[in-house]
Amino acid sequence: MTILVTGGAGYVGSIVAEELLKAGYEVIVLDNLQQGHRVAVAPGARFLIGDLLDPQCLEEVFQREKVDAVMHMAAETVVEFSMTDPRRHFQNNVVGGMNLLEAMLRHNVRKFIFSSSAAVYGEPGTTSVEEEHAKAPVNAYGESKLMFERILDWYGRAYGLKHISLRYFNAAGASESLGEDHRPETHLIPNVLKTALGKGGPFPIFGTDYLTEDGSCVRDYIHVVDIAKAHVLALEKVETLGGGTYNLGNGQGYSVIRVVEAARRVTGLDIPTTGRPRRAGDPAVLVASAERARKDLNWRPERDELDDIIESAWKWTRKHPDGYGA
Ligand code: UFG
Repeated sequence: MTILVTGGAGYVGSIVAEELLKAGYEVIVLDNLQQGHRVAVAPGARFLIGDLLDPQCLEEVFQREKVDAVMHMAAETVVEFSMTDPRRHFQNNVVGGMNLLEAMLRHNVRKFIFSSSAAVYGEPGTTSVEEEHAKAPVNAYGESKLMFERILDWYGRAYGLKHISLRYFNAAGASESLGEDHRPETHLIPNVLKTALGKGGPFPIFGTDYLTEDGSCVRDYIHVVDIAKAHVLALEKVETLGGGTYNLGNGQGYSVIRVVEAARRVTGLDIPTTGRPRRAGDPAVLVASAERARKDLNWRPERDELDDIIESAWKWTRKHPDGYGA
């Protein structure tokens, strides 16, 4: 069975491709390399360079390749940029996604796993968000993901598309060989570890006046390999489930300050910090209930300890102090 992984040269996509290969699938990675890295394409996967905003390119991919299912991870992901330049998010995440669906339907490919996000909930105001909780995105990134989830739902009803949307909370950590290298890097854990390595100034804590235990934002960090394994399980179940949305998180919230403390424990290094104003588009608290994924997908996160998640990121960072290089 051949799986097309869009965004398969990116952080989550590359590790999803790696897990699919381990599970015995054939993998084709499609990536425009704007954010992804050629060297992050899992060995064993075939690589095609291409852009979802180019319908002709997608048509050629589906004409040439026999694709059985698609895992769609290619996206604009930086929440902060979605506030200042939402156009890119809607174009890539909604229009690009629809181009992909068009090509799939033309070629009768009807299995689809979508990389969605906890950002669809906005500010949920509860410490354990279930899938049925109200969706009220507070940033254009979350809005673009929610719009696409809804498109999938309608395509499921009208065209028989079998789809599962996986709402990641905060993907973190690394596999043995693949890790996190965004340019620019905006995420908490890689940036804390850069500070630990003595790169840049003190680590900025964005917002120290939230109504949380210590004033900093609370998030649910989930190991990227556990996220990747959920994709394999979703693929196995997509035909029978037909549709659905699933939270992927550990159900444990950690404040930014607690994450910094954990990084100090793991690295044994001093990590200086500095308080900064809130970052645009950041909700105060986002913590998952992932009961549905446990029940329907039989998903069990295996690396649910924060220190262990940071340890895996630290191991990768020490091996790759400049990420994937130039
Ligand atoms: N943070 C800092 N300093 C930094 C980087 C991050 O204090 O240098 C804080 C952020 O303000 C936030 C927390 O650390 O409170 C986590 O930030 P990340 O950037 O690591 O992750 P986000 O929660 O902003 O974003 C993640 C995913 C998005 C997804 C979102 C759901 O990267 O794709 O969760 O809200 F949409």
